[in-house]
Amino acid sequence: MASKGAGDEHGQLSLSWGDLSYSIAHTESKGGRKQILQPQSGRALPGHLVALMGPSGSGKTSLLNALAGRLPLQKGAVFEGRVEVSGVSKADLPCHFADLSAYVEQEDCLYALSTVSETMDFAARLRLPKETPSAERERRIGEVLRQLGMAHVRDTTVGGTNFNGALRGLSGGERKRLSIGIELLHSPSILFLDEPTTGLDSYQALNVMKKLQGLAEEGRTVIVSIHQPRSQIFALFTSLCVLSRGAPVYSGSAGEATDYFASLGHPLPSRFNPADFMIDLVSVDQISPEAQQETEARVESLHRSWAENRGAAAAAEKASPTGNESCMASILDALPKSTPAGHGSFVTPFVLLLRRGWREQMRDRVAVMFKTFFSMLVTGVLGLVYFQLGQGQANIQDRAMLLTFLSMNVAFASSITTAQIIPRQLSIVTRERANRLYAITPFYLTAVAVSIPPEVVPQLLANVILFFMANLSGSFWIFTLALGLENMVFVSVGMLLSAALPSVTMAPQVAPAVVIIFLIFNGNFINVDSVPVYFVWLREISPIKYAFQALAVNEFEDARFECESSDVVCIQTGEQVLSQLKFTEEYLIMKSIVFLIILMVAFNILALALLIVRKPKFLQPVPAKVTGPI
Ligand SMILES: Nc1ncnc2c1ncn2[C@@H]1O[C@H](COP(=O)(O)OP(=O)(O)OP(=O)(O)O)[C@@H](O)[C@H]1O
Ligand SMILES: [Mg+2]
Repeated sequence: MASKGAGDEHGQLSLSWGDLSYSIAHTESKGGRKQILQPQSGRALPGHLVALMGPSGSGKTSLLNALAGRLPLQKGAVFEGRVEVSGVSKADLPCHFADLSAYVEQEDCLYALSTVSETMDFAARLRLPKETPSAERERRIGEVLRQLGMAHVRDTTVGGTNFNGALRGLSGGERKRLSIGIELLHSPSILFLDEPTTGLDSYQALNVMKKLQGLAEEGRTVIVSIHQPRSQIFALFTSLCVLSRGAPVYSGSAGEATDYFASLGHPLPSRFNPADFMIDLVSVDQISPEAQQETEARVESLHRSWAENRGAAAAAEKASPTGNESCMASILDALPKSTPAGHGSFVTPFVLLLRRGWREQMRDRVAVMFKTFFSMLVTGVLGLVYFQLGQGQANIQDRAMLLTFLSMNVAFASSITTAQIIPRQLSIVTRERANRLYAITPFYLTAVAVSIPPEVVPQLLANVILFFMANLSGSFWIFTLALGLENMVFVSVGMLLSAALPSVTMAPQVAPAVVIIFLIFNGNFINVDSVPVYFVWLREISPIKYAFQALAVNEFEDARFECESSDVVCIQTGEQVLSQLKFTEEYLIMKSIVFLIILMVAFNILALALLIVRKPKFLQPVPAKVTGPI
């Protein structure tokens, strides 16, 4: 039955589960709990393509996640039962389950601007052992692409709507096959796929499922959740688990399913898709109270029949343990022979992530050009409005306001864009972290490193132009350093927000609010000494305050202003301006620069700590109170 392709050596592993149940705290449900999966048992064998089928909300994804160990850790959730790999409990495996298995999510999480081979190469460099020669890596990528019928699109851009907006690229089916391909690189023995055909036309869906059948025939255990397969797809399944309301109404050979339902008085009408027939059979019709009552009674009776049937089947299974015996040897055989390059290494993931992040950013030319263009536009307008400022009394306010504008502009520009960085990539990064491709530190550092050039370089350039256009005083280098550092601090503030925010859409709302709070305390809107005592801490951590302080002292120290006879008030020196602002401390520029550096480091550490805490965590099964045969 199963063959081992050269270079694609995967051991054959079975997966069995017993008394598996899953419930969550749910105030609207009876007893305050919602039972998502009723206690159930089953088995998936190597060489089998197992389909979890059922109407929407029947628990297919939940069961798949429970088996794959991907149920999200959630307060009040209870996950009970046993999940065993070739008879060995998951907790007792000699390795992480992710090293033996692969999980392909329903949504394709891919970088839109990379090509197929770049995407595969990134995963291969992290998943294959470090000592793999590049020719061997190339061969493995080529083999997987050929296996999935993707060799001809190697150099096509992935495209899609997941990252940088909608972009033409691979077809939906090809994207799905690429998601599968990434997961095949480390030759997993067990493959989980959530709705691999959803969103595909029937030809593409059949194509993907045929590839999955091929993978099963090679000796893998393939488990898919599927909504409504066409009859040709149904014919590919080896085993079938039909779910309704979180419990199976049938679990066993796909070919015998229709006979089973016929034996209960529900024969398959001629020329009818068996999958449609079964879904109809186990769905509750809510169109009218009568229809609902009737369909609920039918589903109830199907559940009862299966429970009775299952009791007898379990006893028979116990008598003939086909391949379910504990087999540590097959697990050891399935284990990767050496550690994947991404594990326990910092440099390899760092370099690869840096390269990928930079590539994705630079290929998003419209965004880069937009940012540079608007930065230059604002500079042009400000430069003309404040063109060649003189030393008159009115120019004192002009100079202070221009510096306020600049420190404010830097804060808004860098934090709003940066705040979107992590939420935009969150689904991909979560998948890659769950697959243990890399640790979060190299990811975070590369995300910061990649965002600094487009955030800081155009701003710096604009500020340099403005310095000369507006005829500002003081040291050009201090002016540039203060604004450059402020820029970097707000990249860190953006990254901190980015680490905390769950979605991209929140960034444009939250980031400006944070900037405004910092802005209030810049020293120009409210005098530093007038800040209410309970807001002093906010004043002390306001990067805008430190940047403005440095800029103002640099601008006004040793400055001389002219008075005319019509001036009611005459300010002659810059020191008078600084004393009005209460910027009279010694070494204020140096102190401000030091504080900006401290804030930059502190915000980055906080962001990284938050990401470490937000590591994807999954529920582990606890033994069920009542145990039955597995
Ligand atoms: N974390 C959760 N919080 C609240 N309800 C949940 C949670 N997880 C699952 N459910 C509920 O459990 C039921 C089963 O969900 P599940 O996603 O497993 O269904 P499904 O069969 O995959 O449906 P679909 O075909 O629509 O994908 C649904 O009613 C769903 O709303
Ligand atoms: Mg689902």
